[in-house]
Amino acid sequence: MSYDDLNPSGAANPRHIAIIMDGNGRWAQQRFMPRAFGHQAGVKAVRKIVEYCAQQKVEVLTLFAFSSENWRRPEDEVSMLMGLFLATLQSEINKLDRNNIRLRFIGNRSQFSESLQKKMAEGEAQTQGNDALTLVIAANYGGRWDMCQAFQQVLDKMAAGRLPRQNITEQLVNQHLSTTDIPEPDLFIRTGGEQRVSNFMLWQLAYTEMYFTPTLWPDFDEQSLETAITSFKGRQRRFGHTGEQILNKLVTL
Ligand code: FPP
Repeated sequence: MSYDDLNPSGAANPRHIAIIMDGNGRWAQQRFMPRAFGHQAGVKAVRKIVEYCAQQKVEVLTLFAFSSENWRRPEDEVSMLMGLFLATLQSEINKLDRNNIRLRFIGNRSQFSESLQKKMAEGEAQTQGNDALTLVIAANYGGRWDMCQAFQQVLDKMAAGRLPRQNITEQLVNQHLSTTDIPEPDLFIRTGGEQRVSNFMLWQLAYTEMYFTPTLWPDFDEQSLETAITSFKGRQRRFGHTGEQILNKLVTL
């Protein structure tokens, strides 16, 4: 970490932006249209925001596309969303690749159809060498799931005698999360007016700056993201230090 990352003078851009894209359903209902129409408009907003992040040289963009709790939605909405994910991957992977964007998925993909899992794996393999933006799609993801699967790996290693108890540090837990090689989010955005984290990246958000906006996801555009980034840049990040320590560079980061 450097002093620039703490925004003492409002300088640094977020390296990693994580977004809960909420409000598709309400956006459609306001137009007397079915919820599916809102999700389709949501995909258009995804395209705009991905392009903008790539232009702005954001390193990682994580989008919460489907939570582990979203299976509780009516069956026809879940199957519509699955169809939309598959169709979107089919139409977008080559474009992402041409733009040097690396695609990654986090979440428990074993519950998805074989065709969707195959497409996800293909998308990751095709784009793995790209080094502009990393686009992380959280699909069937939950922060608690992420921690449980990390603990399972750690406990397996302990049981096999490969990991002494005292080696369980924050760094070790980080290494077993689904985001292992990804920097923690600097800026979290939730659209749609709700002000909660909804089981998204619970461990990783420990020091993330939070930004909530009433804008519904399909209306969230480049200008909206610019406003969120400007709010982020105006904040001083302290990571437990005092403001004076940060301003006077009195601590080693
Ligand atoms: C939340 O809005 C949105 C979702 C659960 C799905 C998000 C999916 C997309 C934006 C489309 C696909 C994305 C990718 C990356 C392929 P909501 O339905 O909860 O809205 P509401 O709160 O107004 O009902």
